[in-house]
Amino acid sequence: MAGTEIFDDDEIRAAADVIRRRMIHRYGSHEQRGGVYRAEEFEAAAKKITGSRYALALSSGTAALITALKGVGVKPGDEVITSPFTFIATVEAIVACDAVPLFGEIDETLSLSAASAEKLITPRTRALMPVHMFGAAADMDSFTALGRKYKLPVVEDACEVVGGTYKGRALGGIGDCGAWSFDPNKTLTVGEGGMLFTDDRDVWFAMDCYHDHGHIHSKEHDRGAEGKFGFGVNFRISELQGALGVVALSKLPAALASLRAEKKKIMDAGRAAGLAPRPSHDEAGDSATHAIFMLPTASAAKKFQAAAKEAGAGCAIIGENTWHYAKHWEALAAIGEKEYFGNKTPSYAPESFAQADEKLSRATAFTLNVKMGEEEINKIVRAVEAGAKAAL
Ligand SMILES: Cc1ncc(COP(=O)(O)O)c(C=O)c1O
Repeated sequence: MAGTEIFDDDEIRAAADVIRRRMIHRYGSHEQRGGVYRAEEFEAAAKKITGSRYALALSSGTAALITALKGVGVKPGDEVITSPFTFIATVEAIVACDAVPLFGEIDETLSLSAASAEKLITPRTRALMPVHMFGAAADMDSFTALGRKYKLPVVEDACEVVGGTYKGRALGGIGDCGAWSFDPNKTLTVGEGGMLFTDDRDVWFAMDCYHDHGHIHSKEHDRGAEGKFGFGVNFRISELQGALGVVALSKLPAALASLRAEKKKIMDAGRAAGLAPRPSHDEAGDSATHAIFMLPTASAAKKFQAAAKEAGAGCAIIGENTWHYAKHWEALAAIGEKEYFGNKTPSYAPESFAQADEKLSRATAFTLNVKMGEEEINKIVRAVEAGAKAAL
């Protein structure tokens, strides 16, 4: 993934302009800033990509997820259903609302299964939170239908898939709310930053106020004279990040094209060697941050991994990934099997992830970067071929 490797003079000019004008903060100071609002430009560029009615730039993807859940009305004791294959921030956002995370099963694509999510719905369920992981879309048609059926908001965690699409629609812009991240490990980065989307004016208004101490933002009044809408927090983004974000989004098409070309070479080699790619709900829309093969068994995945390493390119087995698989998160013990507003929470014991384990222990993943040289890609191709030979 990109990080800062695609930075050039464009970012330097954008940052220098903000610093020269001494307008690093986003809100207020309307007279001094001469009509220049970089964070707003970042939002406008993001909105163009998803086609959403509203976009809100914030300080991180995690901040975006918390704000989204607050915006759709998640309250203490509510339940939110999500995927066990995600980054811990998804669950931290639920916990930050004093709500209870429930993990569904994963489908063949390794995304949250909508059928399994439906089985977890109770009168306390307040939101559905599919996650688009490692480049690939969750089954958004099924989640949209499920949300409608039970009148539950769908909050997309699209933090990892900026630029990815599902049936032609940008991920993050399909659910009732959706979040992107621009942290240093994402396709595009502004250092730290997030973007939140919705089409609902009331939800946007609640989110906009919440992320900035309840401020009802207005260009007619200075900050001290703005009205307030309840309590909030400080999840504001700066103009510096806004300016970098405008540049980043202008580079998105080139970044995606590069990632997709790299991934194609690797997946073609894998297919030719008899490997099964991770199935997909929309292959063409994949943001191509990872090349993933499903091995027939967990022991075959181990053999694949060892042979690939020996051939010069390391890959991860997702089931062993302590960052992205809930089975490994000891923090969950703090809420497991506790009384929560009169209801017992699930245990979150490692055994409860057996269904996800069966799939994730067979999933091998190579991480791709926007700027990979020919030699680096060829190394992965050779590793894939060696892995297939050893494991199949
Ligand atoms: C799936 C997922 N959700 C949320 C986040 C949180 O994003 P941030 O690091 O911008 O807070 C990440 C970041 O790694 C992520 O991968």
